[in-house]
Amino acid sequence: MQAGRSTPSRRTGEVATVPRSRPSDRLRSAEEGGLSEAHRVEAVDVQSANQPARAKRLRSLSTALTIADLKARARRRVPKMFFDYADSGAWTEGTYRANEADFAAIKLRQRVLVDMTGRSLQSEMIGERVAMPVAIAPTGMTGMQHADGEMLGARAAEAFGVPFTLSTMSICSIEDVASVTKRPFWFQLYVMRDRDFVRNLIGRAKAAGCSALVLTLDLQILGQRHKDLRNGLSAPPKWTPKHAWQVATRPLWAMEMLGTKRRSFGNIVGHAKNVSDLSSLSSWTAEQFDPKLSWDDVAWIKREWGGKLILKGILDSEDARAAADTGADAIIVSNHGGRQLDGARSSISMLPRIVDAVGDRIEVHLDGGIRSGQDVLKALALGAKGTYIGRPFLYGLGAGGQDGVTRALEIIRTELDVTMALCGRRDVRDIDRSILDEG
Ligand code: GLV
Repeated sequence: MQAGRSTPSRRTGEVATVPRSRPSDRLRSAEEGGLSEAHRVEAVDVQSANQPARAKRLRSLSTALTIADLKARARRRVPKMFFDYADSGAWTEGTYRANEADFAAIKLRQRVLVDMTGRSLQSEMIGERVAMPVAIAPTGMTGMQHADGEMLGARAAEAFGVPFTLSTMSICSIEDVASVTKRPFWFQLYVMRDRDFVRNLIGRAKAAGCSALVLTLDLQILGQRHKDLRNGLSAPPKWTPKHAWQVATRPLWAMEMLGTKRRSFGNIVGHAKNVSDLSSLSSWTAEQFDPKLSWDDVAWIKREWGGKLILKGILDSEDARAAADTGADAIIVSNHGGRQLDGARSSISMLPRIVDAVGDRIEVHLDGGIRSGQDVLKALALGAKGTYIGRPFLYGLGAGGQDGVTRALEIIRTELDVTMALCGRRDVRDIDRSILDEG
């Protein structure tokens, strides 16, 4: 295995500045790893160069000023079942709402007459330099928000200088994403019962030059999202009159989707044995995911992977201490965007006590509820070293493909920068609790 893992970039931690291996090297390595012809992909230009159409899209996107604006556009462009998949939480959606509401309740201190010149948002996450401490979260079925969605998202993140995390449950495969990017991305792992498949998946992430493995701990069984059941969610969509209508009323989405061959779970199809029902997420996870996942398995995965490891889904101090004991590089304080245990506390409300418990032993990141650069700043103030955006990324993607993702990142960057300045700070790495008005 090769690529970003043993390059100078890894040793210096400056992954963002050093190109990974060339696609041809990666493809060779994939070949050595025994991958089939079907999974070697060309480095296609996934968002075609129709210049007048692109100029129009950029003009239109520039009028989106908030993530909520992008969300409204995504709702108009993406078939209901897929838009709802992104915009849903488990059961009552109480935790999903709390993630956002608890950010809104945090107040900032306004400071004046402080030199605001020469501000910097650059920072590091797990030793990788980032243009701002905001990574793209792993999100399932991203290639159903927009054709080739994961490839477009990864390219936008790469150009912007922030990490992109590819989900196991992605539509584009690890190899697809590697074929259109030059720098290492991160790969999120779900652990299946079939350990040969897991081993193979880890091998594919290594072959693709991924620079971190993000192991999700909070989804061994799927939380129930009522909208998905009511919508009859599947990838690709079923052809009932209801689903056909949802697609027919989103003609641009449908046209773009007809232009790609990537319409099912690219990391799974052709790789996993005995996956009988990929179309329903709940039956698929019930059948394939390992409900016995334990801390011993985390140790096994850490050994198998051998690189930077991030543990995602920690919402409890006791679990945080166990996670730190594994020797992983970071944890993500997360309740899976309110999609798993409804009734759990918001991520941001749990952050301070988790930082108190393990902040001196392991890097602490946060996801869940971030809808603006202000939220990013608040998370940093409460001790997070890095943050992740899931829904803002998906809304940008749904609203305008790669350019939409770039727009989402720009919105967050501007909000983060201006808020930091008005709080009297110039360097994002110096943000601490003293910027908060704690009453
Ligand atoms: C997958 O990660 C999901 O939350 O649906």
